[in-house]
Amino acid sequence: MTARIIDGKAVARKLRAEYAERIADLKSTHGIQPGIAVILVGDNPASQVYVRNKILACKDTGIHSELHKLPADTPEETLLAEIDALNANPAVHGILVQLPLPPHIEVAKVLEHIAPDKDVDGFHLYNVGGLITGNTVFPPCTPYGVQKLLEHEQVEISGRNVVVVGASNIVGKPMALMLMQKDATVAICHKMTRDLAQFTSLADILVVAAGVPGLIRADMVREGVVVIDVGINRLPDGRIVGDVDFEGVSQKASLISPVPGGVGPMTITMLLHNTIVSAERGLAAQGRAKQG
Ligand code: GUN
Repeated sequence: MTARIIDGKAVARKLRAEYAERIADLKSTHGIQPGIAVILVGDNPASQVYVRNKILACKDTGIHSELHKLPADTPEETLLAEIDALNANPAVHGILVQLPLPPHIEVAKVLEHIAPDKDVDGFHLYNVGGLITGNTVFPPCTPYGVQKLLEHEQVEISGRNVVVVGASNIVGKPMALMLMQKDATVAICHKMTRDLAQFTSLADILVVAAGVPGLIRADMVREGVVVIDVGINRLPDGRIVGDVDFEGVSQKASLISPVPGGVGPMTITMLLHNTIVSAERGLAAQGRAKQG
């Protein structure tokens, strides 16, 4: 079997066109422009690239964006005060603090400071808790992007064996919960998992977010598996690859996402989506207040 390749760029393009229409409608009908504030502390080069891409995507789609750049030695209190001001600003529907933060700042404290109804990254405990009960307001963007890709490709999830490789708070754990919510049987593997292949070979759907190039080889998967590669690794020769041996595994899989051009373009797309949802929720809340 040779796998069909998921075109994440095309799916992202299609969704962004739909979102641009939704934003135009919010503006023309209700005079509201969804807005996001992105806070970048320090000068981590990768973070600078991610943030620039987020801001560009907002511009392209019609979302107002503002970048709050703070020096690496910013005291935690100053960052919290900046978040307080954004929490109170009605033109800001989404607040995103780019991670990682400098080591003197407590990440959990910062994430809990963002108003849950502006937490478009989905990292606040309130939204993380909602993943358990299946009614989170803002699903975290990368696993949400994976879910959207699976939906777009009409992959059945209910009753299937899903194996998630990688147990991070940002991808692996929320991914597992989101697919369990859709009635998959889910296993999470991580660094301490013994005999990874024993698990991966049971997967109907395999989601890999481990940050280890070439971790998943063809001999570790079953014929016909659906493979989603969330890894982004830069090799010494400068090439960007995922966690899956694409050449080998695509000979056995039925469907596979490439790196680059698979999950990557979906992450920012879901951030746009969450920001629009936040603006629409704000509008609905105003309507309820007026009805009184
Ligand atoms: N750093 C790496 N990924 C992310 C993300 O999705 N959101 C934020 N805020 N920081 C990140």
